Amino acid sequence: MSRTLLLLLLLLRGPAAAASHPPPAATPRLKLAFHELRARHGLRLFTLERSCCYEALLLDEERGRLFAGAQNNLLSLALDDISQRDRKIYWPAQVEWREECNWAGKDITAECMNFVKILHPYNRTHLYACGTGAFHPVCAFVEAGQHPEQPIFKLDPRHIEDGKGKSPYDPQHAAASVLVGEELYSGVATDLMGRDFTIFRSLGRRPSIRTEQHDSRWLNEPKFVAIFWVPESEDPDDDKIYFFFRETAVERQQGLGKTSFARIGQICRNDVGGQRSLVNKWTTFLKARLICAVPGRDGADTHFDELRDVFLLQTRDKRNPLVYAVFSTSSSVFQGSAVCVYTMADIRRAFLGPFAHKEGPNYQWVSYQGRVPYPRPGMCPSKTFGTFSSTKDFPDEVIQFARHHPLMYNPVLPHGQRPLFLQAAVPYTFTRIAVDRVTAADGHYDVLFIGTDIGTMLKVVSVPKESWHHMEPLLLEELQVFQDASPITSLQLSSKRQQLYAGSTTALAQLPLHRCSAYGKACAECCLARDPYCAWDGTTCTRYIPNTKRRFRRQDVRNGDPNALCSEDPWRGSVPQKQLYGVEGSTAFLECIPKSLQAHVLWTYQRTQDDPQREVQVDERVVQTERGVLLRSVQHTDAGYYLCHATEHGFTQPLLRLSLEVIGTRQAAGMAPASDPQLVAAPPGHKVWYRDFLQLVERPPLGAVDRVCQRLWSRGRPPPPPRAYAGPPGRRQGEEPRKARRRRTHEGPRAERGPRSASPW
Ligand SMILES: *[C@@H]1O[C@H](CO)[C@@H](O)[C@H](O)[C@H]1NC(C)=O
Repeated sequence: MSRTLLLLLLLLRGPAAAASHPPPAATPRLKLAFHELRARHGLRLFTLERSCCYEALLLDEERGRLFAGAQNNLLSLALDDISQRDRKIYWPAQVEWREECNWAGKDITAECMNFVKILHPYNRTHLYACGTGAFHPVCAFVEAGQHPEQPIFKLDPRHIEDGKGKSPYDPQHAAASVLVGEELYSGVATDLMGRDFTIFRSLGRRPSIRTEQHDSRWLNEPKFVAIFWVPESEDPDDDKIYFFFRETAVERQQGLGKTSFARIGQICRNDVGGQRSLVNKWTTFLKARLICAVPGRDGADTHFDELRDVFLLQTRDKRNPLVYAVFSTSSSVFQGSAVCVYTMADIRRAFLGPFAHKEGPNYQWVSYQGRVPYPRPGMCPSKTFGTFSSTKDFPDEVIQFARHHPLMYNPVLPHGQRPLFLQAAVPYTFTRIAVDRVTAADGHYDVLFIGTDIGTMLKVVSVPKESWHHMEPLLLEELQVFQDASPITSLQLSSKRQQLYAGSTTALAQLPLHRCSAYGKACAECCLARDPYCAWDGTTCTRYIPNTKRRFRRQDVRNGDPNALCSEDPWRGSVPQKQLYGVEGSTAFLECIPKSLQAHVLWTYQRTQDDPQREVQVDERVVQTERGVLLRSVQHTDAGYYLCHATEHGFTQPLLRLSLEVIGTRQAAGMAPASDPQLVAAPPGHKVWYRDFLQLVERPPLGAVDRVCQRLWSRGRPPPPPRAYAGPPGRRQGEEPRKARRRRTHEGPRAERGPRSASPW
């Protein structure tokens, strides 16, 4: 089989494959493969030999470093370019612990290593790091220098600390921790068997403190996801630590099997435990269910209960960050992932609401209706709410109530009562999230970067549909960051450097937050992308920088209306022309692939440039595929002008103008090649061999066909000179300008829209 035929078959395979899997999920507007990202869009990678599992990432803007914890290693990389050779600390597990780990039946080459799970800034000169240490958790201070100029990165091996209650034992377990004021809060298993889970405060000067042991009402097989410190008022005594986890639901009725619920828990930073009971145990511990569900028509909601990751988006008000959380379903029937957003106001309301109460083993969980003691459990001892200066002063009654009522009755519902973004029926699950608040010409937008378990990154922006209260997610990009499709296990974002850093089992990656030039070369393409990072500067699609006095910056994320924005001709300069030759009776392929995967292609035809354009009629001879139009058995009447348009978001954009000339069979046969070995693919004397397959595209993406065509035609008559570009069709003199023919459906003119500066929160 000739190479040409093979290529042609490849070319035509697209639509058939797609037809058998109708995509009900959101399609990314732009999909970029690993090689494209690497070659053209600044993707940088870092890997360490004989190591893996880049799970702990610490972004340090002041030092300009990305610190990373991996298997047996600590890394210090330059934030500007992580791929350059850089500093590392080899930190293996001690031989004796490795042996013990092996005796306990663990895999010496896979599990009995030091997997660094925790990495926090400690003070001006040091970091604090913890690892699994071959099922023997260890922690250490790491000297990192004070300034970018100080090339210090070292660990003092004489000062290795016990990491019990700080780092997980098991490399499979994720670590959740936060370091606040030289104290470490972590959610971990504190035993080798992974049965005793706790929320533990250590380091610092105060005695360690933990959750009540062996009480399923407090924690029930939890999987900790993230921990954050959030101030509640001006008074540091009101500061709270929030931790996010999933666990087996105790409140679920028995007999329904194990159900996983997502939780948010809280404790006071100044909690030092009780005096007579709950000694060195939290007295302010409360937890509530986090709901992320799609309301069903029949009242049966689809729940996303498997909490995977949480990102705290800081706002101007330190007390009210936005909580972005990623979930997947635990159902085996329905598989999907979702992003839900929570406000601190809704979270605090749940903790101020009724307590969940269970009278005895055979009772249901109900809303507690009795008297709640004072000070209300969950409140921090501070001047704001009373006269107690320490949790040790709390009345016994309060301590006892707290001990038996850690669960709130009301769940926390997401903002808007539903997921901000969800994907179902896709071959991947969300694993991580990072969010950037971007200032655009028409307001602030939160751009979501979502890592998946197949090494891809989704970039999503949520835009107002009718008002700022009805948001609609746009899937801007799907990027293959890791070539081997390994799950993304860590994610950090630098707004300052406009870079994203991701870790997986096999590598670390660095990627810019935007690739404006990838959207296209026309104002309309830039505008339709609706990427808040990008704007049209008069000649190209580039990064939008607010507050710069450049008059020609064009951006409209909310409406993405090129007709309103791109004044003269939104498509100017963007419609390439191609000349095509088809041999009578053979097959011609008119290829046209829009950049945006969300666009629909429409073909029009005109016999001469003065004829009206009409839509190309599809029949058994004229087949429209995903990649273009296939003309079988070309006829003389097929000659003329073919215009490929992309329709997206209510706007139509011409993409390509093809002019097809049809040549008679005899004429073509006379030009058949004689001796070129590459071209003679059929036995001599065979009918014109290329006749059934070859579409004579002037410059198709397939280099081979290209070369064949050129050589072929150079043997015959020379191809005619390219015709002068006649301007976009349908826009001839005397016709009303495009701007007036607004095709928008859902919005009035710009002037009628309300103020746009406010974000929904
Ligand atoms: C930071 O902490 C380390 C470990 O405790 C200590 O040795 C160092 O002196 C501290 N640095 C500063 C600037 O306080």
